[in-house]
Amino acid sequence: MNWARTRSFFPVTKELVYLNHAGVAPISTRVQEALQRFAAEAVHRGAFAYEKFYEAEIERVRARAATLIGGKPEEVAFVKNTTEGLGLVAAGLDWRPGDRVVTCDLEYPSNVYPWWSLRDRGVETVMLRGQAGRLPLDRVEDALGAPSVRLLALSSVEFGSGFRQDLLALGRLCRERGVLFCVDAIQSLGCLPLDVETCGIDFLSADGHKWLLSVEGCGIFFCARRVLDCLAPRIIGWHSVTEDRDFDRYHLDLKPTASRFEEGTPNAPGIFALGAAIDLLLEIGIDPIAERVLGLTDRLVAGLERRGALVRSPCGPGERSGVVSFEWPGEEPGRTAARLRAHRIFVVARRGGVRASPHFYNSEAEIDALVEAL
Ligand SMILES: Cc1ncc(COP(=O)(O)O)c(C=O)c1O
Repeated sequence: MNWARTRSFFPVTKELVYLNHAGVAPISTRVQEALQRFAAEAVHRGAFAYEKFYEAEIERVRARAATLIGGKPEEVAFVKNTTEGLGLVAAGLDWRPGDRVVTCDLEYPSNVYPWWSLRDRGVETVMLRGQAGRLPLDRVEDALGAPSVRLLALSSVEFGSGFRQDLLALGRLCRERGVLFCVDAIQSLGCLPLDVETCGIDFLSADGHKWLLSVEGCGIFFCARRVLDCLAPRIIGWHSVTEDRDFDRYHLDLKPTASRFEEGTPNAPGIFALGAAIDLLLEIGIDPIAERVLGLTDRLVAGLERRGALVRSPCGPGERSGVVSFEWPGEEPGRTAARLRAHRIFVVARRGGVRASPHFYNSEAEIDALVEAL
């Protein structure tokens, strides 16, 4: 792959050293063109060719999203953000008093609050303790051994430390114990491979604005076919039911697909953008992207250590991701991030560290520039 050529899709490279894909990513010119295509149609024809133009693209993007995660189009719904997908799971399962959800204290609040909100229904959230940025697998194994555990809810990559969860091993543990497996995939989808089928994932949610390189406000929610009927949609509208264009006959026959969770008119511009973003990723290939990103983060880790920075991200086999967290000795992380931003190097402070998160189009020279600027 000619990585230097991929930079031409990202004009942001002319302005900034953009190392915040774990925050909000810039979009490519491909996504810009998709948004322009949407706008041109809306401006010139409105909804005149709705089915042919909008609906056809929406279903195409659904299929592309399914390919990206190894699921089926019928298992994918569009959501407005990661939180909405996790909320669908929290709101829709038939909880019984005494049920337990297992998660951990490394998680972003989106994957904690939906479970805590079930407290008044008698559901207990078990917050496993992370250790130096990682969640040891044996802690999960012990927790899942307790009675009444219904669901394991973890991120594919932890937002602060960059620890990559072993989804395959976690999925196996869940399957062995009959526990549902819910994954917040926003910190890896688009940068690391993921297969819902092999990992036995029941639910997955990820917005488009990080590693997928799309816009905010439109993401994907996966609900495995085998558990579709275990999840009651809590908001039901015209789009949730079969024959949704028959507005004259009221009925509540839900669609037999995950699209029953899309209760009304979809976010068409967001879906157009997401489609172009996923197309670009699949065109390049997720495996080469993962190799590239891990190559860049390896280089960063080595450079940081050489300069005397403290690397906080777990760096053991299989633990690495696109996120590198570090500390500059004697300096508060917010101050270090501000210092780098003064050099037009975009990183942020998160969870006690400076977080740098390069994507495939970043260059080795940009990584070296960060290390130099320290
Ligand atoms: C792991 C994780 N989950 C969820 C979110 C937020 O998701 P959304 O705003 O798409 O609901 C973030 C944002 O930083 C995150 O890092």
